[in-house]
Order: sequence, then structure tokens, then C-alpha cells
Amino acid sequence: MQADWTPKHPINISAKAFIDDKYKYYDWMRREAPVYRGKFGPFRSYLLCRYEDCDFVLRDPRFIRSRKENKWRWLMPYGIKLITESMIYQDGDEHRRLRNLVQKAFTPKAITKMHDRIEVICNELLDEVEATHDGHFDLVPTYAFPLPVRVIGELLGIEDNDMDSFQKSVDVLLEGLTGIKIVKTLVWDLPKTVSFLKELLKKKRATPADDLLTALIQAEENGDTLTEDELLGMMMILIIAGYETTVDLIKCAVVALLTHPEQLQMLKEDDSLMDGTIEEVLRYWGPVHGTELIYASEDIQVGDVTIPKGHIITPLLGAANRDPDKFEHPEAFDITRTANRHLGFGKGIHYCLGAPLARLEAKIALRILFSRFPQLTLTKPLEELTFKQVPLFHRFKEVPLSY
Ligand code: HEM
Repeated sequence: MQADWTPKHPINISAKAFIDDKYKYYDWMRREAPVYRGKFGPFRSYLLCRYEDCDFVLRDPRFIRSRKENKWRWLMPYGIKLITESMIYQDGDEHRRLRNLVQKAFTPKAITKMHDRIEVICNELLDEVEATHDGHFDLVPTYAFPLPVRVIGELLGIEDNDMDSFQKSVDVLLEGLTGIKIVKTLVWDLPKTVSFLKELLKKKRATPADDLLTALIQAEENGDTLTEDELLGMMMILIIAGYETTVDLIKCAVVALLTHPEQLQMLKEDDSLMDGTIEEVLRYWGPVHGTELIYASEDIQVGDVTIPKGHIITPLLGAANRDPDKFEHPEAFDITRTANRHLGFGKGIHYCLGAPLARLEAKIALRILFSRFPQLTLTKPLEELTFKQVPLFHRFKEVPLSY
């Protein structure tokens, strides 16, 4: 990086310049202003770049998420209310209650059970690629996107004949919530998705099955169960938090390996490096670069700065994951790295609930992709790959490949 480069102030993490070149900004902030008062869209937010500071904020209960006193709550569409009441926006006991209940359903056993199905889905998707492409394809619509939605759909217990409508309604929703069609999404698509999920709940109540949704309905702790609204919110947050993030992890992993052929070769020769590979992708190009909105519940010192009560603070996970005080040679993509305690899945009470599932999907997806297409190459140089303009994510728009 040029030593004399300075950003335009205030840095806005929603700006195109930042999203396209985030690592350059992280380096500057870490060096010059590790607790930086920048912008997050229209809001002001303290941006954190050092590992130590991010780690501190994520583990200290004085940093909170819920805003019960929000006076605009009555204006919120029903679907958004469901989402904002889900566990990722709760603190303390409210969070613990929801997390304990979902944890009873989202068990390691339920996830391990998906192993063989994930393999089958990956192979089916690549059969389709071979049948419909002449050696060139974009990883995103053919493989990275359809895999996680089918997995979460099957895990929840969505039947084959409902899977297409499920995928369509979720795709429209995710695209709309982060795009310019947000009003249409809120007024039209979100209520449709909520109705679809309500109908699904009704079916599962009538005919319980061996799936996550039935387990969520039945989850109980000391006589306490999830209400209808909580179940809907839980499904929405599982889908929103777990879908495109996993898509991104697969994209980032494939691009990282193809642009570091010596690392890919090592992985091909020794499959025991797969676990380390996924962790290194999560550190080097983790898909999620920030958390949901966090507020200081009182004046709190972070580094040299006092964050005033009520102010927003954003731990930049992607920046923390390149902190030289924490990681040796942070700019190197090294699948043999040990002690890789990255923040790619967050930290503290909101640590990613779906981390085991995301890891499993990514491992299987990579293994099958590179074994079926050993000659896989990127057909564009890395510098020409572009990013979706969504703040706090590392989201390649396309991954054009040739096999
Ligand atoms: C590579 C894929 C994924 C990445 C990088 C990722 C990343 C994260 C991060 C950074 C957080 C913390 C956010 C915060 O503190 O505000 C989080 C939370 C969460 N993730 Fe993931 N996630 C992934 C996949 C999944 C999957 C597959 C699921 C479920 C199907 C899932 C469900 C959740 C939930 C429910 C939370 C909130 C937990 C809580 O509030 O206690 N995630 N994830």
C-alpha cells in the first residue's frame, strides 16, 4: 500500500470506494485511528479495526443491541418486527432464552445428519453444470447460491414440492432487503414470505416430522416454548443469517484457492488441510465484516477513546482478522496457519449459531468441486472481479470459471 495514501473523511463503510477497497482502509485506520468516528450509511458509528478492541466489545455486556424504547416501532412492517425481535437483536436473559431453545433443535446431530445430503446436492448441481455448460460457468448461480438454500430448506423440513417456492421467496427477499427495491420488498415480498412460513408451521404442527422446524416447535425448557411469532422470527433469522453468508464463504474459498495455486496444490495432496483451509478463508476473506448494530449502554472506554452512552459502535471483523498484533503475516493466505482464532463467526454470546453447518457445507462443496474439476481456473484476473455493494460483507458478484 502507498504510505502516503489517506482516505476521504469521514470514512463511510457503506460507500462504494470503501466496499471495493476495504482492506486498504482497514490498514490506514489500524495505523492512524483504530477507534475511528466514521459513518455507516446515514448513521455515525465508531469503527474498530484492532483485534483486541473488537474482541473486547463483543464480549462486554455493556455493549447492547436491543432498542426497546424505539419510538418508531409501531411503524415497522410485521415481518421486520419479527426479525428485530429475534435473538441476534437481544441481550442478556432474553437472548439466552431464545438461544437455549434454538440450540435444543439445532444440534450437532441434526447437522451431521445433513452430511450425505450435502454431498448429493453438490453432485447434482455439478451434473447440471456439466450438462448445460461447455466448460465455462459462473460459480455463483450454478453452485454457490443453490447449495445453502437447499440445505437450510431440507434441514427445516421443507418438502420437495415446496422447495422451489421457498427458494424463490427467500431469494427475492434477500436481494430486495439489500437493494434499491426495498420498499417493494417490505410491502409485497416480505409479507408473502411470512405467509409461506406461517403455512409451513401449520403443516408441521399438523404432521410433525424428523426435522428442525418440528424440533423448534417442540423445543422446551422448564415449560417454556417458542411462541408463533418467535418461531417465525427464528426461521427468518436462520435463513437471513445463514444463506448468503455461506454462499459467500464458498465463493471466497474458491477465489482464494484459485489465486493461490501453491496452496490449492497442497490441499489437493493432503485433505487433512481442509479444516485449516476453511478457517484461513474465514480469516483472510471472511464473508462477514461486521455485526448487527451495537450501542454503548453507558460511557465506555475503548482504546484511547470514550464511546458516549447511546452511540453506535461497529467492530470491523475483517479488519481485526488482518491485525498484525494478532496474526503473523496477516496479508498471507496460508492454509497451514495454526492458532487461527479469527473473528469470522463473531465472538461472545452472539457467536454464529450456524458455524458448524457453514463449515460442513463449505468443506464438502470444495472437496467435490475440485475433485470433479481438477483443472478449474478463474477466467478473469482477481483485479477484475467486482463486489456486490452491500456494506460489511465481502461479496464477489461473479466467479467466472473454466474447467
Ligand atoms: C460462512 C457462513 C457464515 C458466517 C461467516 C456467519 C457469520 C456470523 C457472524 C459474524 C455472526 C455474529 C453477528 C453479530 O454478532 O451480530 C453470526 C451470528 C449468527 N449466525 Fe452466522 N454465519 C454464517 C453462517 C450461518 C448459518 C449457516 C446459520 C444458520 C443456518 C447462521 C446463523 C446465525 C445466527 C442465528 C446468528 C445469531 C446468533 C445469536 O445472536 O446468538 N449463520 N454469524
